Amino acid sequence: MSAKEFKIALVGCGRIARNHFDAIAGLDGVALSAVCDIVPDRAREAGEQWGVPWFTSYDDMLKQSECDVVVVATPSGVHPAQGIKAAQAGKHVVCEKPMAITLSSADALVQACDDAGVQLFVVKQNRLNPAIQLVRRAIDRGRFGRIYMANATVRWARPQEYYDQAPWRGTWEFDGGAFMNQASHYVDLIQWLVGPVESVMARTATMARRIEAEDSGAAILKFRNGAIGVIEVTMLTYPRNMEGSITLIGETGTVKIGGTAVNKVEHWQFASYDDDDKLIDAAATNPPNVYGYGHAGYYRNVLSVLRGEGGPDTDGRSGRKSLELILGIYESAKTGHEVPLPLRSKL
Ligand SMILES: NC(=O)c1ccc[n+]([C@@H]2O[C@H](COP(=O)([O-])OP(=O)(O)OC[C@H]3O[C@@H](n4cnc5c(N)ncnc54)[C@H](O)[C@@H]3O)[C@@H](O)[C@H]2O)c1
Repeated sequence: MSAKEFKIALVGCGRIARNHFDAIAGLDGVALSAVCDIVPDRAREAGEQWGVPWFTSYDDMLKQSECDVVVVATPSGVHPAQGIKAAQAGKHVVCEKPMAITLSSADALVQACDDAGVQLFVVKQNRLNPAIQLVRRAIDRGRFGRIYMANATVRWARPQEYYDQAPWRGTWEFDGGAFMNQASHYVDLIQWLVGPVESVMARTATMARRIEAEDSGAAILKFRNGAIGVIEVTMLTYPRNMEGSITLIGETGTVKIGGTAVNKVEHWQFASYDDDDKLIDAAATNPPNVYGYGHAGYYRNVLSVLRGEGGPDTDGRSGRKSLELILGIYESAKTGHEVPLPLRSKL
């Protein structure tokens, strides 16, 4: 008997949807079964390209199409409501990052998936970059000793035209700014690798783009293990993306994973030898854009969870942690005060 093929429906046929379509098409055991977008041309184009029914109403897609999983790739502020509807229809949910832009709506999504007994996956594909996986293993094996400093730097360029492509970009209601959207993977990585974070101080600014939220900012983190962290983010780098990096400095190890999107090892030095040291050159990837290749790996995990072979790489509770840190950064920038985590009130 051949293994079950899981059917996947996707809502939100925009820029990131392509990474999902390619990843689903490249993996045996899953198949795209329907697509939906409120813009009819986008839904039709994706439906015709992939040979599946297309919808302009999400409710209709949920009712009429056969699927085991719903991928939510719409503007961030829409994710919880659509994820909750999918869960209530008994579907597993793959939610693009960030899972929500408020903690209360993130919690409602987690709760709905728990109540329905379905899986909630939050897409954090950069955790799967080969170079980042090497760092994760080095930490798990204790190779850094005590970690003193952790840095995430995102020096990217997003011109005004990027924000003008869609009305939701840069708004507080549907998107947030550089921390919540473009740099959210880096906030996630630093807290996943070195966290938990105990408190944060931050400053943000909207210096050059006509958007509600920030185009740049800096945050100083205090980790519970005593380490100090710095996150520097800007979308104003002239003239193009320059760096997306994570640097860790520990007692017995120093590592920088850089490139434009944590895609290569730039510095790797430890007091002790490990066979992983031979893998650092091979860990470099050359992705066509800063989204990287990680969606393919992400779906391999989704499939293995659906088959009951393992747990999710990033579930709702794990996705919520970086959201909480981002909201802490925003709270500190707004009040001028240091903000302790977990947050006292749900933002
Ligand atoms: N994992 C990553 O690296 C990564 C990269 C880019 C974007 N994203 C995330 O993916 C999401 C989408 O980003 P994008 O760049 O593809 O945006 P986009 O604007 O290109 O695409 C969003 C699509 O959703 C559609 N849409 C909006 N509201 C809808 C609704 N209620 N029902 C159905 N369709 C609706 C729009 O018409 C549009 O086609 C965002 O949450 C973003 O943060 C993740």
